[in-house]
Amino acid sequence: MKQFTNVHDIGDLRKAVEESFEIKNDRFKYVELGRNKTLMMIFFNSSLRTRLSTQKAATNLGMNVIVLDINQGAWKLETERGVIMDGDKPEHIREAIPVMGCYCDIIGVRAFARFEDRDFDYQETIINQFIELSGRPVFSMEAATRHPLQSFADLITIEEYKKTARPKVVMTWAPHPRPLPQAVPNSFAEWMNETDYDFVITHPEGYELDPAFVGKAKVEYDQMKAFEGADFIYAKNWAAYSGENYGKILSKDRDWTVSDRQMAVTNNAYFMHCLPVRRNMIVTDEVIEGPQSIVIPEAANREISATVVLKRMLEGLK
Ligand code: CP
Repeated sequence: MKQFTNVHDIGDLRKAVEESFEIKNDRFKYVELGRNKTLMMIFFNSSLRTRLSTQKAATNLGMNVIVLDINQGAWKLETERGVIMDGDKPEHIREAIPVMGCYCDIIGVRAFARFEDRDFDYQETIINQFIELSGRPVFSMEAATRHPLQSFADLITIEEYKKTARPKVVMTWAPHPRPLPQAVPNSFAEWMNETDYDFVITHPEGYELDPAFVGKAKVEYDQMKAFEGADFIYAKNWAAYSGENYGKILSKDRDWTVSDRQMAVTNNAYFMHCLPVRRNMIVTDEVIEGPQSIVIPEAANREISATVVLKRMLEGLK
């Protein structure tokens, strides 16, 4: 595998899940594969789970790891071509990337949407330059429009916990004090659309996602109706996608906070969230601490999804 930025890069999902269970059964099985190989993890944005789980995955495979936080200790990077660089950014990303590629075998990149220009974000301007210029296999550790390592871990988790072959999975918008990217909901929708699950998205009007990601999902504006009979509730906030509202907060309505009230109409659904989560904005203490909350096993599966992706990239180096 030369790149991993979306669901299509992983190929057959059934095989990917089987490989995940194989790795989970013996996560050091391929520890020789990464001997004398180096992973470089580049963070333009903060992280807890992605940083730790991906580093753990690399060590499962015997790799060395270098981590660089672009905004802490590195030169500030200019990312636009044609800019007269007389400001506070002494290095251009188009030199920095090939230099980074000199010191490693595989590169992981985290670069969120900036919400300054939807085209800049949705063209994946940052990670695509890593793919173009690094000379190395590149994988997303959450880019502007997708978070595939998270979605892969979410899929593994649903496959582990589902009680029926075709569970009802509901992704719900929930309020948040700050504008958040659409990467997680876009990506979750993209992966769910590749399954045969009954997949429903619910959000207030104005929070419609890019139709390319919504795909064949049913969109239901009535949250209570959407939750009826659900087997999994996947909560997430996102800022508006559409037109001039791109990146804006249109609602902080706490009626959308996931609580026992909504969970009562589900099929005793499991509660999922990618974390970090704002309690009593996204979800109540009772629900996230309740017996149906699987947010911790979901986070644990980040190590598994990252191990599968890195394994496939290492196999591609040969
Ligand atoms: N879910 C997730 O990607 O968490 P971090 O932002 O902490 O990496």
